[in-house]
Amino acid sequence: MIRDYVSVNRDIWDADAVNWVTVGERLWRAETPEWGNWGNSEASLKLLPTDMTGQDAIELGCGTAYVSGWMARRGARVTAIDVSPGQLETARRLAVHNGADITFIEGNAEEIGLPDASFDFAISEYGAAIWCPPDMWLREAWRLLRPGGRLVFLGNHPMALVCSPADGSPCDMTLHRPYLGMWGADWTKVEVEPSGVCFNLTISAWMALFADIGFTVSRYQEIFAPDGATGVRGAVPAAWAQRYPVEQVWHLDKHQ
Ligand SMILES: C[S@@+](CC[C@H](N)C(=O)[O-])C[C@H]1O[C@@H](n2cnc3c(N)ncnc32)[C@H](O)[C@@H]1O
Repeated sequence: MIRDYVSVNRDIWDADAVNWVTVGERLWRAETPEWGNWGNSEASLKLLPTDMTGQDAIELGCGTAYVSGWMARRGARVTAIDVSPGQLETARRLAVHNGADITFIEGNAEEIGLPDASFDFAISEYGAAIWCPPDMWLREAWRLLRPGGRLVFLGNHPMALVCSPADGSPCDMTLHRPYLGMWGADWTKVEVEPSGVCFNLTISAWMALFADIGFTVSRYQEIFAPDGATGVRGAVPAAWAQRYPVEQVWHLDKHQ
């Protein structure tokens, strides 16, 4: 793993922020949430409580912050953190445009600096969920949650990483990497579409880490691309993602 992954990832997201404005605007406008690279519906996944009135919620690695917007619409008092000033610029503009009162923090989701037990609900969709080492950001999320609080996060399924070639070309039917010892991948120097440093674990390593921190798994979802999906998204072809789990969602509870 490269040591300065936080600044590497921040710089990549700053440079790429302009390319996320249109999708951010569309998702802020969306009547109902849709999730992940394949736009699976909230009706099918149920990642957010339907009524968040009076809840304190935080989004970890918010990007353009449409998830924060959806939580604010459901009644939550929302805080959103991101390490990229460029992404936050879009997020702040869209929050104002949509009349959402969100507290934005520019910073690293591994060390947020807010008091213990500040939140009832935490979420990350492809934010800290994949760009921060699990052992660091999950401990911080646990610290920030109140007893009885819930963390939901969505990211790449480890099987998709195992089937991803080292040069960054799309996921295929070959086991390109060992599953044992999985930590994530450094995409900074690949030939096809260089990106940042992202993190993942084997399923058993995720489970062991949750138990060590004190989280209980209340639900685990493996996500596929919907029927009719086409093209390649996040370096995964639709035909692959319709047959193998492309994304995963963990719902974790902090004990009362
Ligand atoms: C793909 S976006 C996630 C937002 C949105 N849900 C989405 O899928 O577009 C990833 C975000 O994670 C942020 N990020 C990466 N590393 C981070 C860190 N250490 N702390 C906070 N945010 C981070 C990036 O700046 C980027 O805005």
